[in-house]
Amino acid sequence: MKKVLIATEKPFAPVAVEGIKGVLDQAGYEMILLEKYASVDEWKQVAADVDAMIIRSDKATAEVIEASKNLKVIVRAGAGYDNIDLEACTKGGIVAMNTPGQNSNAVAELAFGMMIYQIRNAFNGKSGTELRGKKLGIHAYGNVGKFIAEIAKGFGMELYAFDPFVKNEDIEKDGIKPLATVEELYKTCDFVSLHIPANDKTKKSIGYELLNSMPKGGVLVNTARKEVIDEDGLLKLMEERPDFKYLSDIAPDCREEIETKFPGRFVFTAKKMGAQTSEANINAGIAAATQIVNYIEKGDDEFKVN
Ligand code: 3PG
Repeated sequence: MKKVLIATEKPFAPVAVEGIKGVLDQAGYEMILLEKYASVDEWKQVAADVDAMIIRSDKATAEVIEASKNLKVIVRAGAGYDNIDLEACTKGGIVAMNTPGQNSNAVAELAFGMMIYQIRNAFNGKSGTELRGKKLGIHAYGNVGKFIAEIAKGFGMELYAFDPFVKNEDIEKDGIKPLATVEELYKTCDFVSLHIPANDKTKKSIGYELLNSMPKGGVLVNTARKEVIDEDGLLKLMEERPDFKYLSDIAPDCREEIETKFPGRFVFTAKKMGAQTSEANINAGIAAATQIVNYIEKGDDEFKVN
């Protein structure tokens, strides 16, 4: 009997776990659930003889991969796979996959939740501002970016996007103005919503100069990864520009400094919350389980990332 481990430090909603179990039961696989594990050692022990693994933002380092002696496939139930050591997977003949698009709506909804919370002064009773008529820049027009655009239209925002990997006509047909450079996007937009992955090219790529080019009252919304921000540049900018605000799903490393120095100009979630909905957990969890079964039974590696 094939064994599939769900290793999630931040658990899926119970209803999603039930859904995953349903898919695995159907295939005649055993599901092993390791939630809120206390240590990497605990994870490594349980992983020692499993055939497949489902993870979320859990750090599947070379150490974990190498300890999983029987592992054939690991699926990140979500979009970003910067938490998986792909080289270690490839070396061990293990297929790594993600489940693109499955949790994107949840992330997009959170971005707007944070924006409204900020511009209505954390609902403290003071007069705020509105989204209608404001310029929203979508930095990377992928799965989350598309949901952002759809929701923003309902709010009556003016939409812009920068994505060198998407054709202008594909952006235009969604009623969005494509901009040719990242500089133009930041210079133009009152709000910028970030959706770039964290990799060697993008880490620390959003810094002082780009952010300083934003119009007065500029708001950066980061539901992507904290690593893409150059935090020294961000701090310098927040120091110099009292009008600028930073909203981030998962606090930056400089959280304390921002919280102390710039009250009212940030929103940080306690844990990465973007994909933390029952719907997203069900979508991504079931997709992950299905991909595992399809890979083991039929060699289908459609969502392979290594
Ligand atoms: C993703 O990359 O899909 C999101 O960051 C969600 O991460 P999570 O599964 O840890 O909530």
